[in-house]
Amino acid sequence: MAAAKPSKRKPFTFSAIIFLATLITFNIQYLIQLHQDVQNAVNHPKPATSLNWFEFVARELGDETINIALVNMDEATLTDKIPTKGKIAKVDFNRVDEAVQWSHLYPEWIDETNAKCPNVPMPMFENYDQLDVVVARVPSDEFGLKDVFRLQVNLVVANLLVRCGRVQSGISRPIFAVFIGDSGPMSEIFRCDDLVLHDADSWIHRPQLKRIRQIVLMPVGSCQLNPPLEHLGEERWIEREDERLKQPREAYATIVHSTETYVCGAIALARSIIQLNTTKDLILLADDHISPKSINGLQSAGWKIKRIQRIRNPHSTKNSYNEWNYSKLRLWQLIEYDKVIFIDSDFIVTRSLDEFFKYPGISARGNNKDRFNSGLMLLEPSLCTFRSLMEKRWLVRSYNGGDQGFLNEMFPWWHRLPNKINYLTYFDDKDRDHIIPSDVYAIHYLGWKPWWCYRDYDCNWDSLQNHKFASDSANNIWWEVYDKAADNKRGNCFLTPKMHTRFWNNRNKAKEANLPDGHWRIKIRDPRLNNGL
Ligand SMILES: *[C@@H]1O[C@H](CO)[C@@H](O)[C@H](O)[C@H]1NC(C)=O
Ligand SMILES: *[C@@H]1O[C@H](CO)[C@@H](O)[C@H](O)[C@H]1NC(C)=O
Repeated sequence: MAAAKPSKRKPFTFSAIIFLATLITFNIQYLIQLHQDVQNAVNHPKPATSLNWFEFVARELGDETINIALVNMDEATLTDKIPTKGKIAKVDFNRVDEAVQWSHLYPEWIDETNAKCPNVPMPMFENYDQLDVVVARVPSDEFGLKDVFRLQVNLVVANLLVRCGRVQSGISRPIFAVFIGDSGPMSEIFRCDDLVLHDADSWIHRPQLKRIRQIVLMPVGSCQLNPPLEHLGEERWIEREDERLKQPREAYATIVHSTETYVCGAIALARSIIQLNTTKDLILLADDHISPKSINGLQSAGWKIKRIQRIRNPHSTKNSYNEWNYSKLRLWQLIEYDKVIFIDSDFIVTRSLDEFFKYPGISARGNNKDRFNSGLMLLEPSLCTFRSLMEKRWLVRSYNGGDQGFLNEMFPWWHRLPNKINYLTYFDDKDRDHIIPSDVYAIHYLGWKPWWCYRDYDCNWDSLQNHKFASDSANNIWWEVYDKAADNKRGNCFLTPKMHTRFWNNRNKAKEANLPDGHWRIKIRDPRLNNGL
């Protein structure tokens, strides 16, 4: 009996070993990631429960004469608990009208020239000055992250910090913000980088005022465009000497991963930015699916290359087209830059975007509902933000499985740029000409990309369902940029046999259907037809 059993079990044991081995191999990648994440977490500020916020601030300032403003808190219950020798002021402001909903702050569509945001009342700032610390009770996030009152409280604090801080002989001394409540402040306004102490339910921030100044100049939502750039230089607030002297560290960035199908697009994108005489760096994130030959082409086009490991969306199905789209989160690791304008590789820039770096992150154009389009976005790299994004990707789902849905959950409070900064090649039935207006900043090529086709016409014309993306004028703009790139940069812009076959299949179908636009009649002269580059 004892001898018979093992022989029967053998196949089972064998398959169990195979199963385990597979499991281990699959998990090694995740274990490595986990290990890295744990290593990173070592740098997190640690809670220090023995200190309360007042002791902490007094120690940091070396002073017990501390002027305090209370926001959304009751003075009477707190005054005798705070042992300051300075003043304590309760900040008065009218609570935002309950009729104002998040959807009013974040409408899907706005009239870019005339839209007005609803009123979100602020205090009379002249009544408060010489502040050392602003203490706010943050409404809990039981109404979610899109709570208008929670936003109002955060904005009141931000404004007090930049308008009412203590000034000694022309120099502002550090000012602190303390948030009481279990959810902490809004991370879009008060970055985790500035968190100096998290003690039970209090969150102490020492904000970089330069950043907060940019934020308080923005409208309360995407209900209005970001203010015109020329208005942003007019701040009268005192800047610290070291802030004024610091050179801005800014870069454009794009990403290619998983397949090489966007490499040619990224080459043309770099050329388009460089032609406009940018002063910024160009950074390209590439994973190990991008070959050395492609890397060479990208480098000589002007990109500085950073090798990355791609990031999986843990909720996506295996081998789905957007399984690895969370790789974009790596942009937040580019901390050698204060600001990054990310541009998808299927773009051409036609007017300089350099001046847009004056805005805070995240600035982008609208997409649908209250969301921004993540194809072109200004963001501010930050390691703790990166870590938080990496952690939250396990819990938070994206409405479309892509990075755009996830990022919109993470950054519900964003700033609206004009649509012409990310002009989508999308033409509805009323638009018969499919012409790109001359004042756009950047064109976002939807549908079949120009470099997946022969240059003679926009091959979106060859299939009816893609007509809405077809534009010969957009196609011509792309190829003009390509033509200016030196020959040695074009080696990555040929059609694979598969792309070639797909092109002719579509074109033949267009011919059989006798599509009235007649593009299928155009003779193909593109030298790439014979793989002449
Ligand atoms: C870029 O600089 C070159 C050389 O100074 C100049 O000829 C060209 O007009 C500039 N282009 C733009 C778009 O400003
Ligand atoms: C995900 O990335 C792929 C290729 O990198 C792109 O074609 C696709 O549009 C992206 N999807 C979403 C939903 O962002």
